[in-house]
Amino acid sequence: MSGATGTIGQNLETDVGSTVLVTGPTGKVGRRLIPLLVRRGVTVRAASRSPLPERVGIEPVRFDWTDESTYETARMGAGSMYLVVGPIPQPEHADYVRALLDGAAEAGVARVVLLSTYGVDQAPPENPLRRIELAVESSGVPYTILRPAAFMQNFSEGLRWRESLVDLIRERDEIVAPGGAGVVSYVSTEDIAAVAAVAMTEDGHEGTAYAPFGPQPLTLTEVAEHISWVTGRRIRYVETDRTPIRDALLAAGAPPETAEHNSQVYVHAFSSGALGVLNDDVLDVTGRPPVSFAEFAVGAAAAWRQ
Ligand SMILES: NC(=O)c1ccc[n+]([C@@H]2O[C@H](COP(=O)([O-])OP(=O)(O)OC[C@H]3O[C@@H](n4cnc5c(N)ncnc54)[C@H](OP(=O)(O)O)[C@@H]3O)[C@@H](O)[C@H]2O)c1
Repeated sequence: MSGATGTIGQNLETDVGSTVLVTGPTGKVGRRLIPLLVRRGVTVRAASRSPLPERVGIEPVRFDWTDESTYETARMGAGSMYLVVGPIPQPEHADYVRALLDGAAEAGVARVVLLSTYGVDQAPPENPLRRIELAVESSGVPYTILRPAAFMQNFSEGLRWRESLVDLIRERDEIVAPGGAGVVSYVSTEDIAAVAAVAMTEDGHEGTAYAPFGPQPLTLTEVAEHISWVTGRRIRYVETDRTPIRDALLAAGAPPETAEHNSQVYVHAFSSGALGVLNDDVLDVTGRPPVSFAEFAVGAAAAWRQ
């Protein structure tokens, strides 16, 4: 990762053209990225399995990574792309990305921004997300890779592939997760979206990877304290082993080896402190410091109301 300087709105280049492609527009990052891009004066082609309602500056199209016949409408005339393949990266996803980006450089795509995960650059080349990164890196299109820490919004909006953290907080006053006393610098998806918006529309971020992290490493007990403060209830952290994670991945359709591997990586990431580092990437790219967990919790409090 490396920092880059830039002020929002400055250096907006015209080479991305007037249309940019956003995949995963219903996702935790994608739906926050859209208004930031519209404010930057580009038309956002929002490409999803269930098209969004049409609004000023938003051009919804049907797009499914598993259906190559939907790719052409999505990419036609787009000067810049934001790519997210879905909540659980699978081995075949790199082939989808390669197919979408085939001929993209020649067609005038000036920038691709990929949402990945912290540490994936250290993963073996057969790791599904690393395979996706390599497909982007070899596409010939100038690229920026985002490798964030875990999202704050997992606590308020949940994860699609496992029992929702938000439901358990609301219904049982419990955060049930593996992680022990490990710290994580949870990042707001607002900040990831802000970094993506800059990298998609301004010069100087090509060939760069950023690791958007929040400003404070927190244990899950400390996360529970923040949520207790804004809800006025006593939220407890309840530690589990990796079994519920593995079973949820299997139930979401992950192959057994992926479920085994990912659940081990997940527990290691949360318990080892590897995600508890700090850096200046959000500040350097966006010009403002990352949102703290306390600020996030105030804004998200309605999600935990009983
Ligand atoms: N959550 C975290 O803490 C975290 C941390 C670091 C990195 N990441 C990475 O971020 C990425 C997104 O994870 P997330 O948890 O943020 O997921 P998310 O918010 O649920 O977003 C996933 C998006 O992918 C779309 N999608 C799923 N399958 C699709 C398909 N077949 N065709 C087209 N679109 C499809 C979904 O759209 P639909 O509306 O069609 O379902 C949704 O917009 C993953 O690669 C993950 O590894 C997540």
